[in-house]
Amino acid sequence: MNVLVIGKGGREHALAWRLKQSRRAEKVFCAPGNAGTARDGITNVPIDHFETDKLFRFCTKEKIGLVVIGPEDPLAAGLADFLRVKGFKVFGPSKDAARIESSKVWSKELMRHADVPTAEFRVFDHPEPARTYIETRDYPVVVKADGLAAGKGVVVCKSNADAIKAVERIMTREEFGKAGRQIVVEKKLDGEELSVLALVGGRTFLPLPACQDHKAVNDGDQGPNTGGMGAYCPAPVATPELIMELERSVFLPTIHAMKRGRFPFQGVLFAGVMLTSQGPRVLEFNCRFGDPETQPILMRLKSDLLDVLEAVADERLPEFEEKIEWDPRSAVCVVMCSSGYPGKYETGKLVSGLADAEQLPDVKVFHAGTKLDAQNRVMTDGGRVLGVTALGDTLADAKARAYEAVKRITFAGMHYRTDIADKALKAKPPALPVEVPKLPAKFRRPGGNDPEGEKPTS
Ligand code: AMP
Ligand code: GLY
Repeated sequence: MNVLVIGKGGREHALAWRLKQSRRAEKVFCAPGNAGTARDGITNVPIDHFETDKLFRFCTKEKIGLVVIGPEDPLAAGLADFLRVKGFKVFGPSKDAARIESSKVWSKELMRHADVPTAEFRVFDHPEPARTYIETRDYPVVVKADGLAAGKGVVVCKSNADAIKAVERIMTREEFGKAGRQIVVEKKLDGEELSVLALVGGRTFLPLPACQDHKAVNDGDQGPNTGGMGAYCPAPVATPELIMELERSVFLPTIHAMKRGRFPFQGVLFAGVMLTSQGPRVLEFNCRFGDPETQPILMRLKSDLLDVLEAVADERLPEFEEKIEWDPRSAVCVVMCSSGYPGKYETGKLVSGLADAEQLPDVKVFHAGTKLDAQNRVMTDGGRVLGVTALGDTLADAKARAYEAVKRITFAGMHYRTDIADKALKAKPPALPVEVPKLPAKFRRPGGNDPEGEKPTS
């Protein structure tokens, strides 16, 4: 089968790399891809995701058997619907279902309706009532622009004066354009963050091993937020009991509410969760694979990714009951960035040492913002440049190996965090939620977790 991956980041490189290893994949294409996909035998196609007619003609010409859409923008714009109507098999949600990420207001209202634990919130479409609401809060708040704003539309405020300034920036000065016509003001939560991704097809879902991302640009979670500076998988804080609780209190009600509302979700549903002292709370949903979470997750995947993604697209996910195989080792991904990122950054710098880094066993360098120049050299072409990913028998081994590889790579102005995975390496054992309620008997989740046969966990 010929496969097309849409996107050009580290997530798409990881997806295309694993798809290329499938025994059933003939040609794997990436539109538009990056230097890493080009060097891995994946054919880059110079078409952007908004060039839908060109994509359609390309899929027809190359007889594409499965399209895998990486980023949220094309999903929110309805690319999956467009290609499905034309008769192609697509992994990824419809435009309606993608609202779970593309509208924070919609997503929070869905959570309220489905009784999914999340921070207390109010929605505003005018700045004045938002200011009055904030002034009467005796706790810090987070102000969120409703629409997609490239990860920048969320302002975690230290004081209520900061929050009022955020409302001014989003609603009055319209810094995020239309995305800020409505806002969510919600209670600021404290705790550790966890990324839990689940494959979803029809009524069933299958959680993937949980990860932790590192959003702040500097060590010790200091500095402004980025798209993600590194991730590790599995996250020891995600005990089986915690995952089971998230299945029951988050994924199950969300997926059912979407199905009942006639916008069923198909693809990968990503829950960003805060582990508060009162239990887990959903911070956001994403309608796609995480970046950089996908890199360590797929580094550990041993099953054929094409089989898995096609089963989701065909609503045959239950066939994978107990069948997805994972490498038992841990994976750590360290993101190397351009000078200035996450602010204005420079590009066009020569990247060297890649071959040297990949000579280390169990190391894979995923490319994000890179491109090949006329002499086939790898040049920087974005804020996040590489996701250096390694497996290790322990998390500490994986971290050591990833950083050994990072040290072999250079480009002018590069920077990266030196403490990826330390959260887990230095952690105390997590405080567990106490009681795990039972799933309704009629619901069976693939993965051998049939609640009827399960003993209650304490
Ligand atoms: P979101 O796009 O909603 O996930 O927000 C991006 C980041 O902002 C999250 O990963 C958190 O680090 C932070 N954040 C969002 N909502 C909250 C909240 N209610 N309390 C504390 N931090 C938050
Ligand atoms: N790493 C967070 C995200 O993909 O949104």
